[in-house]
Amino acid sequence: MNDTKHLTALWLDTIGSLLDTPEVRSMGKWRHHCALTCLEHSVFVSYIAFRIARNHGWDTRAAARAGLLHDLYLYDPKIYTSKEQCRNHPRAALRNARKLCGNLTPAEENAIISHMWPMADERPKTNIAVATILADKFCTAMEALCLFRARRVARFCPAVQY
Ligand SMILES: [Fe+2]
Ligand SMILES: [Fe+2]
Repeated sequence: MNDTKHLTALWLDTIGSLLDTPEVRSMGKWRHHCALTCLEHSVFVSYIAFRIARNHGWDTRAAARAGLLHDLYLYDPKIYTSKEQCRNHPRAALRNARKLCGNLTPAEENAIISHMWPMADERPKTNIAVATILADKFCTAMEALCLFRARRVARFCPAVQY
């Protein structure tokens, strides 16, 4: 098994069945940045947050879960202005993630609610929040610049295929 396949298998193992829940899958309905859906973006962020956490010896499970759930707002973002969406969606994502998992850790909760920092209501308090914010900013920049259209993301991050 090559390194990328090995890391993808580890990442999949880490997030477990969360990826196959109807709630997470339903993010595939909403368009996010560039050609990606909210699900593709969230998988991308989860995988990169997992890699950041792994490189630093942080909690990879919390980072991967927070990355996957950070945009679980589950509505069409077009109903809000971009300023409103920026403020509202972390709270909606946290509400849905709590309902879905029932057992979020304080670090996972803080990572979700603070992921829009410095425009968030709450500041990041743990290294898991830092991993999620860095991953989200990195992935968003790649997507917004269309440097990673869906096929290219899949090549860079095989996790997106799941
Ligand atoms: Fe977000
Ligand atoms: Fe995001």
